[in-house]
Amino acid sequence: MNLQLRLATPADLPEIMRLERAGFAADIQETDITFAERLAAAPDGCWVLDNEEGRLLGYLCAEFWAFDPAAPAAKFARDHSAGALHRLDGEEVYISSMVVDPATRGTGWGRRLFRDAVAAMFARHNRLRSAILIVHPQWDAARRIYHAEGFAEIGSVPDYFAAAHGTRMEAIIMRRAGV
Ligand SMILES: CC(C)(COP(=O)(O)OP(=O)(O)OC[C@H]1O[C@@H](n2cnc3c(N)ncnc32)[C@H](O)[C@@H]1OP(=O)(O)O)[C@@H](O)C(=O)NCCC(=O)NCCS
Repeated sequence: MNLQLRLATPADLPEIMRLERAGFAADIQETDITFAERLAAAPDGCWVLDNEEGRLLGYLCAEFWAFDPAAPAAKFARDHSAGALHRLDGEEVYISSMVVDPATRGTGWGRRLFRDAVAAMFARHNRLRSAILIVHPQWDAARRIYHAEGFAEIGSVPDYFAAAHGTRMEAIIMRRAGV
């Protein structure tokens, strides 16, 4: 399949939201307001896989944060304002979300999207020196990608995800130093 990795534009918002709805359960999908703000505040952080036929088959969104070794849980709030945390001179990439179209999964594009988008951000912004993200403990495909790309578990955000029988489940915080 011929897919081009490119920076997202505001015109991509409807396709990004289609992927968001295909990628996550309704209670954890982020809003079009959140993505519109990401595209406006952190345009160098939003990447898409474009099949050049009017359809996007994946997206990855990120912000640049000031490096904080403590990685406090409060920074990872869902639907937080990218405009409030993103700094063009930030030292750490926070990868806020990634989805590959269900019809395209399991063929290596998720790994390529993640690896190539993160590498492109490091190449474009030489102040970056680490990357950070959170992941659900049961999102096996995503966790395989993050481990394979050198991320290590450094902590957790308690009670982040809804779980069975009205309980809550932590999000795992993962970080990688360097490119
Ligand atoms: C996570 C996601 C982007 C991965 O995309 P993908 O195109 O399926 O990924 P790949 O084909 O590159 O596979 C990545 C790895 O996961 C494995 N994998 C794929 N689907 C899997 C599954 N259902 N269960 C377990 N492992 C799986 C692959 O074997 C591969 O591992 P390997 O490199 O060790 O062989 C995609 O599954 C997705 O959009 N999921 C829903 C949203 C999500 O979880 N986003 C990430 C958190 S923000």
